[in-house]
Amino acid sequence: MDIKNAGFIQGFIRLTEDAFRKGWHERNGGNLSYRIRPEEIETVKTELKAPEEWVSIGVSVPKLADEYFLVTGTGRYMRNVSLCPEDNIAIIKIDKAGEKYSIVWGLVHGGRPTSELPTHLSNHELKKELTHGKNRVIYHAHPTNTIALTFVLPLEDKVFTRELWEMATEDPVIFPRGVGVVPWMVPGGKAIADATRKLMREYDVAVWAHHGMFVTGENFDEAFGLMDTVEKAAEICVKVRSMGGKKQTITSQNFKDLARDFQVDLREEFLD
Ligand code: 13P
Ligand code: ZN
Repeated sequence: MDIKNAGFIQGFIRLTEDAFRKGWHERNGGNLSYRIRPEEIETVKTELKAPEEWVSIGVSVPKLADEYFLVTGTGRYMRNVSLCPEDNIAIIKIDKAGEKYSIVWGLVHGGRPTSELPTHLSNHELKKELTHGKNRVIYHAHPTNTIALTFVLPLEDKVFTRELWEMATEDPVIFPRGVGVVPWMVPGGKAIADATRKLMREYDVAVWAHHGMFVTGENFDEAFGLMDTVEKAAEICVKVRSMGGKKQTITSQNFKDLARDFQVDLREEFLD
């Protein structure tokens, strides 16, 4: 089988195409990673090369030892992934200590995985543990309205969550735990990885102030759908504020009624 026809690679490519069309990926903005299942790696293993060069990840992820990930390349454009996957994405293998990675497929004309690899892998490790292995996708984008709100709203989890929940009745059902906010930080590297990981203990969404959004999901649909839902809430928020602000809204009691009937565990401390 041509490796590019593997279901997990097709799912990865579809997300990059849809997300580019959404306008969330100017130039090389954003990145995507997928923790590959052992049975999926088995179907493509004849196309993988043996690990040659081992490169430091920049964070320690011992619980991801020996795992394989499909990742976007640094500096690569989302809009080019579907045209030439082998030039823009890579399969990497993590070493036995969880300190280094090696490219075993892709990036055929050279290059490295995304500069946000430390944040992706650190959060894969955390979410793998918290979801008992179910979480497999980590996705970072630069959606316009969410970024715009970080110039206007206080950079607090509760304020962001409440504003976004209020923008569409079913939004709290999609992200009942809310969203966390990371203050402005230098992109890439260990510091933003650590700050995001701290929030991801409680959330599946982190807003990066003046930069973008970071989400996790069990599969591509879940991660893309979460990004889409939060960004749409942010778009409504921008429009409402542009029209002079809220004249009425969904109340705390409305949220409690919704939580009861939809049987979702809305974060209690954001409901007062
Ligand atoms: P990469 O091209 O290294 O993935 O970086 C893009 C980005 O959005 C960094 O936050
Ligand atoms: Zn970015």
